[in-house]
Amino acid sequence: LANTVEVHNLIDSTNSYLLRRLPNNLKQGQVCIAEYQSAGRGRRGRQWISPFGSHIYLSMYWQLEQGMSAAMGLSLVTALAVSDAISELLNIEVQLKWPNDIYLSGVKLAGILIDLEGQALGACHSVIGIGLNLAMPEQSAAQVDQPWTDLKSHTQAVLDRNMLCSAIIKCLTRRLEQHQAFGLTPMVDEWLQQDFYLDKPVKLITGERVTSGICRGINNQGALLLETGGQVKAIYGGEVSLRAD
Ligand code: BTN
Repeated sequence: LANTVEVHNLIDSTNSYLLRRLPNNLKQGQVCIAEYQSAGRGRRGRQWISPFGSHIYLSMYWQLEQGMSAAMGLSLVTALAVSDAISELLNIEVQLKWPNDIYLSGVKLAGILIDLEGQALGACHSVIGIGLNLAMPEQSAAQVDQPWTDLKSHTQAVLDRNMLCSAIIKCLTRRLEQHQAFGLTPMVDEWLQQDFYLDKPVKLITGERVTSGICRGINNQGALLLETGGQVKAIYGGEVSLRAD
């Protein structure tokens, strides 16, 4: 698959931009990258602070042939792809926090936002957005409302954004093709090896409800496995947060 890549200096949000062009004006694997986002979006309606030229803001269009049922695994597949790229290029091993955060030294390095459009049956369009911190400028640090880190704090290597973007595009396309062909199952073990919360006590927050338990990894559908009172339950909800106890 040959990815088409568009690079913008300024955009509202790379995810919103691709969403506006759905479905006919996009090719499978088409990418949009921006230097700056004026309305970068995080999960749960949060803002994603996107200073000019500092980080990576990248979105890819991907049509799911199997329909919505495959959507659940997408964030895990994407997190693995970002991990692949960082490991290949910089030899840094990150950790993955269900469903889709990338952690380094216990704090967030990158976030993933997936927008979906389509019906339960039939084709489903997805826009996969990745925000990866490279070198946080001092002026922006104060605006970020959660603990964060950046790649610059963990390596002496020169951070070449072009190289990183092309590695992410290559790894993401490879993982998405693998997922399309074989599903999530062959990737579950790899994911578990990098699972930040594996066998740790956590609090699961679903809306108003808080459940304490122990993380036992994920199942073949990508659901979180949470042990409470000696029983392991699969948690499918997307709007779930985990906190170390
Ligand atoms: C999160 O952890 O809350 C998800 C953050 C996702 C940010 C990326 S940056 C590129 C793409 N465009 C957006 O507006 N958001 C995603």
